Amino acid sequence: TPKALWSGRFSKAPDEMMKRFGESISVDWCFYKEDIEGSKAHGKMLYKIGILTKEELEQILRVLEEIEEEIESGEFVPDIELEDVHMNIESRLIKKLGDLGAKIHTGRSRNDQVVTDYRLYLKKEITAIEKLLNNFMEALLTRAEKDVDITLPGFTHLMHAQPISLGHYWMAYFWKFERDLKRLKAALESSDVSPLGAGALAGSTLPLDREYTRELLGFGEISKNSLDTVSDRDFIMDLQYALSTLFIHTSGLSEDLIIWNTQEFNYIKLPDEFCTGSSMMPNKKNPDALELIRGKTGGVVTGLFNLMMNLKGLPLTYNRDLQEDKKFVLENLATAKAVLEILPLLIDKIEVQEANIQKHLEKGFLLATDVAEYLVLKGVPFRKTHEIVGAIVQYAEAKDLDFKNLSMEEWKQFSGVFEEDILEILTVEKAVERRESQGGTAKKQVLIQIKEGREIIEKA
Ligand code: ARG
Repeated sequence: TPKALWSGRFSKAPDEMMKRFGESISVDWCFYKEDIEGSKAHGKMLYKIGILTKEELEQILRVLEEIEEEIESGEFVPDIELEDVHMNIESRLIKKLGDLGAKIHTGRSRNDQVVTDYRLYLKKEITAIEKLLNNFMEALLTRAEKDVDITLPGFTHLMHAQPISLGHYWMAYFWKFERDLKRLKAALESSDVSPLGAGALAGSTLPLDREYTRELLGFGEISKNSLDTVSDRDFIMDLQYALSTLFIHTSGLSEDLIIWNTQEFNYIKLPDEFCTGSSMMPNKKNPDALELIRGKTGGVVTGLFNLMMNLKGLPLTYNRDLQEDKKFVLENLATAKAVLEILPLLIDKIEVQEANIQKHLEKGFLLATDVAEYLVLKGVPFRKTHEIVGAIVQYAEAKDLDFKNLSMEEWKQFSGVFEEDILEILTVEKAVERRESQGGTAKKQVLIQIKEGREIIEKA
């Protein structure tokens, strides 16, 4: 079995149990590309400051590339004996280059190395997720454009409230995701800091050129304090928070769509492609994709809490607890990508059941606020109008009538201010059209949102 790179001060090898318990290779092997990229940059820096000769550097770079190819071809399988990605790759380098390979870890610790790998890895992953999120937001814009003229009941407390445009609904989620996008960008920015050169915790006696490795690795800046560098996991918290809000949003959206798809509502038909059947009941077509999106949210948010609990109260600087900072994040990234790939396709294929929505629009006195505001425009104080219209609703509900079934005499019974023109405002389409205040549901306002949204997407 290969010897641990730190075995010098030990007289006994770790127990087999310790090896299995302590390894992180089963989680961090996915960092191999970044680990090699980091080693190349570190090697170039060691050459620049005179620790490696040109020839030595060239050999190291060549062999690191060879190792990368061996990993990709499956020839190099990591060994749990070597604990983590860093020591697996370094041991391979030493095996191939002997003493020369043993020079690569000069002025470096796994403590600055692991966060270098992690930050490089997250920068790529966040960029990929941003692209997918953008694509999904574009699907929402397209859907909003298509559905801007469809009116449906808007809800508070899951009770009919006021009529809205379906385009307005889709745009509500567009803006939630737009904020998630900003949070992802913030997480990208906090990942964009170069740790290399912090060493184990205190820096190095060697004249390391941190600015040079920063530049080679494409980081925006260098970390300011070596103790902070090896203990800082804020960049991961930022990402986990951004993913959590993203999932809280996809979960809420899923919930609405699941409800709208029920027999009771029947506002929409979900595409077969994202539903599945029952093993026993032949009639079933279940909204599984959306339920899974809703259900996976718990796991994603758990990832944020897991990390926060891990970090709470840790003494400076590196503690092995920090090795537990990867599993949930990696899982969450994969989940986010899967969800963001499914949602645009699903949204695009939803069939809106307009005729059925029309029937629902007649329930729940959706125009009550419009009637109250009609009286406001005739000079009645709002609180009074609220009371008057409340009484009309109570009266009509008891008789199983809707506003539009009331006679002029009945209107007048509640207030002498009502005139024939009350009948003109009593359509849900009018109710939507008249909500022209900024950010309101009127088509004109929704189109302004869509235009603004398009500009954001095009800039991204
Ligand atoms: N596998 C470790 C991790 O993921 C790398 C750093 C180990 N450092 C140490 N001092 N044991 O955190």
